[in-house]
Amino acid sequence: MDPTLILPPYPKEIGDWWWQHATQKWSDHGEEKILNLIRKEIVLQSDRFNKNRTFESYEYGSRDLSLITYGNFFFPRTWYAMSLSVAEACAFRGWNQPRKGPIRILDIGSGLGASGLSAMYQLKSLKIDNPITLDAWDYSGKSLNLLKTICLDCNHLWNLSRLNTRRIDLRAPLPLVRKQKFDLILLGYSMNEIFENFELDQQIEWMRALTYLLTQNGFMIIVEPAQKKICDQLQIISSFLSNQGDYLLHAPYFNGKTCPFLKAKNSYYSHEVRKINSSLRIQKISAPLKLETRQVKFGLAILSRQKPAAFPEDSSYCRIVSPIKKKKGTLSFVGIGGDGLEYTYEVQKRNLLADQVKKITKLERGDILKIHEQEKGKDAQRIRIPKFESISCEFSSRW
Ligand SMILES: C[S@@+](CC[C@H](N)C(=O)[O-])C[C@H]1O[C@@H](n2cnc3c(N)ncnc32)[C@H](O)[C@@H]1O
Repeated sequence: MDPTLILPPYPKEIGDWWWQHATQKWSDHGEEKILNLIRKEIVLQSDRFNKNRTFESYEYGSRDLSLITYGNFFFPRTWYAMSLSVAEACAFRGWNQPRKGPIRILDIGSGLGASGLSAMYQLKSLKIDNPITLDAWDYSGKSLNLLKTICLDCNHLWNLSRLNTRRIDLRAPLPLVRKQKFDLILLGYSMNEIFENFELDQQIEWMRALTYLLTQNGFMIIVEPAQKKICDQLQIISSFLSNQGDYLLHAPYFNGKTCPFLKAKNSYYSHEVRKINSSLRIQKISAPLKLETRQVKFGLAILSRQKPAAFPEDSSYCRIVSPIKKKKGTLSFVGIGGDGLEYTYEVQKRNLLADQVKKITKLERGDILKIHEQEKGKDAQRIRIPKFESISCEFSSRW
């Protein structure tokens, strides 16, 4: 049950680039003073994202301290989340690069470019060597300028052949680029901000407009913060668009099935929880704030006009959506099957060697498993897995 894909870690040189940018900006400040400035701004920005929910360009995208804080602290986290999602699209969900010519990526609400840059870096690590054009749209001109500089300074990390930035308020009607469509459209933690104060019908119209920008085989990858309300909203929009036939739903689940948690009350909701590596600097920044830095949580949807891959419509494939629970001599987890239903999978510990218990415990929310043998009792939603060998990882990426 080894990982099916090893991902490249967040490049140290980008982390160093951000720190250097901070020390150049405040060359008269010592390290601790800069760290304290960043810490205070993290608290402010977290409140803005989670509590106040006010998104105007002057509140974040025009202030040096906000941008430097984002770059040094939030940027690696959104990088990791998009990197995992792009890996899933390419290595498991059947996204294919154009046979020739450049891959065209559109990063909507790009900010400083963590999503677009991580996607390019991820494609390169998957040996997808087409040149890439990256279009980055955001209303923060300062963010776009910084993105241009990072792109240039760390040029050898990606196959970027052209970067086009566009300063635009995305709440206004989207520009239609009918001639040149995009192979990948990315929305990294930006959809909830753009949609704040939008009614559902406006959100749907906005998403429909994006279909004109996506190639026939193109994928749209949406990553959102792991708050229940935001993740539910993402799944509601995805379900609506797929039910109306605007897009087909490739992920998080299978066979175009929508999230079952929207219909029934449940202790879980659709989001990933992934272990990540955090640099010493990030640990230093976050230590006094006691922030979680060793995992990233996010909601995911992958949409396309291309048909999703076909999986058996039963409990033999699942995506894990709960932590692995250890109790009463069993290991168990909740997964969503190929039929879009929720199942509880259980293995008796007495049937496992110590090493096998360890391996199962290390499974993460978001891993995709194939269950080769299963036993059902009276409750058809409870699956007993007879032995370790009955489970294989179909998609599980690790750093
Ligand atoms: C949380 S940041 C995410 C940035 C980046 N995508 C990432 O992965 O790190 C959200 C971005 O959306 C942008 N944004 C929010 N509302 C916007 C709007 N109405 N028009 C343009 N950009 C917007 C913000 O300026 C910010 O850069």
